[in-house]
Amino acid sequence: MAPGKGCTESPQTSTREPVIQEPETTAEPEATRRAAGVTESARANRGWWDRNADEYQTEHGTFLGDDRFVWCPEGLDEVEAELLGPTEELKGKDVLEIGAGAAQCSRWLVRQGARPVALDLSHRQLQHALRIGGAFPLVQADAAVLPFADGSFDLACSAYGALPFVADPRLVLREVRRVLRPGGRFVFSVTHPVRWAFPDEPGPEGLSVSASYFDRTPYVEQDEEGLAVYVEHHRTLGDRVRDVVTSGFRLVDLVEPEWPDWNTSEWGGWSPLRGHLIPGTAIFVCERD
Ligand SMILES: C[S@@+](CC[C@H](N)C(=O)[O-])C[C@H]1O[C@@H](n2cnc3c(N)ncnc32)[C@H](O)[C@@H]1O
Repeated sequence: MAPGKGCTESPQTSTREPVIQEPETTAEPEATRRAAGVTESARANRGWWDRNADEYQTEHGTFLGDDRFVWCPEGLDEVEAELLGPTEELKGKDVLEIGAGAAQCSRWLVRQGARPVALDLSHRQLQHALRIGGAFPLVQADAAVLPFADGSFDLACSAYGALPFVADPRLVLREVRRVLRPGGRFVFSVTHPVRWAFPDEPGPEGLSVSASYFDRTPYVEQDEEGLAVYVEHHRTLGDRVRDVVTSGFRLVDLVEPEWPDWNTSEWGGWSPLRGHLIPGTAIFVCERD
């Protein structure tokens, strides 16, 4: 359900084609809803993103742009949104990008004069960051165990990185709070929680409620031995607000980007049809004292 999944089509091709690894030939995983803990989720998702990074970057690299900061499939751009604060004030700021993928957002931050560090769980995603290039550090680590000293950053950001995939988002939020300096801001986007009540389909079949919004059972894809190979976790809007506040942040804003008329692309279950009717993304703007 996050923008990594259900990517059915590639409307455009990337200007710099990734080198595609041969996919492993395995049976189709089974999709189910079942419990999945912190360790199982992290292990499954690291493997999934390593195996699927090439396809993700091929399908979405052009939409994301090599050095743009796009928050979501709706196409909301940090240039217009300024959720990290006024763009002209980013100069000289230390910024941690979490779940950076190919680090497109970090490259945009460099252009504004900021000093980003791009962190991701997936080695293959970071290889794509290297392929595109840029003079900033890349760090392979789990967002729940950040390898940085307390108070290392002025800002942190995450465009659909880590938070939709972790079993306990409070572990990530507390870690981000720890590495931020006093007054620091963390902005993160996730699948809008209401989307979990609908099938993850871009067409009309994605417009009828098919599951309980209140069912927090994770979405799991598992192999024939029952081993998770992909996991996504659902939190209601209230859960997300409580996670933010109990982790020591103030919630400054909750942005629900509307689907703009210029955006005619589909991204998995995100489409103009659904985007004009129901929210697809929730962006949390949080600050620590
Ligand atoms: C949907 S992609 C988003 C990537 C990038 N922000 C973008 O907009 O293209 C999610 C990313 O989160 C990373 N990720 C998932 N779980 C993570 C975790 N626990 N810690 C750090 N990164 C994680 C994945 O490897 C993947 O690169």
